[in-house]
Amino acid sequence: MKILSGIQPSGQLHIGNYFGMMKTMISHMESSDLYVFVVDLHALTSVHDRKRLGMGTLEAAADFLALGLDPDKCTFWVQSDVPEVCELTWILSTLAPMGLIERCHSYKDKVAKGITASHGLFSYPVLMAADILLYQADRVPVGKDQKQHLEVARDLAQKFNNTFGETFIVPEPAISQSTAIVPGIDGQKMSKSYGNTIPIFLEGKALKKRVMAIETDATPVEDPKDPDKCNLFSLFSLFAPPERIQEVRSLYVNGGAAYGYIKLELLDMISDTFADARRKKADFMADPAELRAILKQGGEKARAKAAVTLDLVRERVGLKY
Ligand code: ADP
Ligand code: TRP
Repeated sequence: MKILSGIQPSGQLHIGNYFGMMKTMISHMESSDLYVFVVDLHALTSVHDRKRLGMGTLEAAADFLALGLDPDKCTFWVQSDVPEVCELTWILSTLAPMGLIERCHSYKDKVAKGITASHGLFSYPVLMAADILLYQADRVPVGKDQKQHLEVARDLAQKFNNTFGETFIVPEPAISQSTAIVPGIDGQKMSKSYGNTIPIFLEGKALKKRVMAIETDATPVEDPKDPDKCNLFSLFSLFAPPERIQEVRSLYVNGGAAYGYIKLELLDMISDTFADARRKKADFMADPAELRAILKQGGEKARAKAAVTLDLVRERVGLKY
C-alpha cells in the first residue's frame, strides 16, 4: 500500500499538523510504502520571501526527521526537486472543469484571510492532485480541511482514466475522526495562515504565553460546562491519557473545572511530549548540509518514480510522437 502526504513550509509546523497528519504518517513507516514531502511550490502561493521559504523548507524537513521519520524507510523529499509534477499539473489542468475548482472552499477561505487571489492559489488543488497521482498513491492521510482537495484528485484521476484509458490509481483520503480538526487558540481551525497556532517546538515562556492565551468562556469554576464545546478541552484531550480525560470531563460536566489549572497541565504535557524531538531538531538544524543531502537523495528517489508515471501519461495523451 502506497501512503503519501505533504506539508507546506509556509510557517512553523504546529500541533494541528502533528495530530492531523505527521503522527499518522510516521506511524505508517514500518508497514507501508511511504511518501512524505515538503510542498514548497504550494507554499509559494502565500510566501514571497526567498529566505523565509528556504528556511521554512529546511525547518519542516528537520521537524519530520526530529519527530521520528527515518529517510531510509520512506521516500522523503522537497516537491520542487521533482519538476515532473509541474508538467503533470498542466496536463491535468486541461481536464479540470472550472466549476470543480471554483467550488473549492480553501481558496475562498484564504482570500478572505488576506492571501492574494492569484492564479496559483486558485489552481492549487490541481498541483495537489498531480502530487498524489504522480506517485500512484493509494491512501492520503490529511486533516479534514483537505478532504475537498482529495475529491478533486479523485475526480481528475477518474476523468483522465475515462478519457485516455486506465492510468492512475484513484486515491482514498484517510481522515482520523479524533484529530480531523485540531482547534487553534482562538477556537477556529489551527492554521499557519490564521496566526492561532501552538508550534510543535515552541518552549519556555513563548509556549506558556501561547497556552495561557487559549480562549475560554467566562463560566465560573463551580458551574457546569460543556467539554465538547471547549477548545481547551479538545487540545487537552490530544495529550492526556484516557483516565485523566475522563476525570477532567466529569469536572466540566459537574462543575469544578478551572481553566487556568487545565492550561498549566496542558503546558507541561506539550513540553514533555516534544522534549526529545526538540533536542533532535536542534541537532538537525545545526547541520543544514546534512539535511540538504538527505533531501537531495530523497528527491532523486522520488524523481525516478515520477518519471515512470509521467512517461506513461505522455504516451496516453499523445505527447509522444
Ligand atoms: P496549515 O493550515 O497550518 O497551513 P497545512 O495546510 O500545511 O497546514 O496542512 C498540513 C497537514 O496538516 C494537512 O494534512 C492538514 O490537513 C493538516 N492540518 C493542518 N491544520 C490542521 C488542524 N488544525 N487539524 C487537523 N489537521 C490539520
Ligand atoms: N494542500 C495540502 C495542505 O495544505 C498540502 C499538500 C500538497 C498535500 N500536496 C499534497 C497533502 C499531496 C497531501 C497530498 O495541507
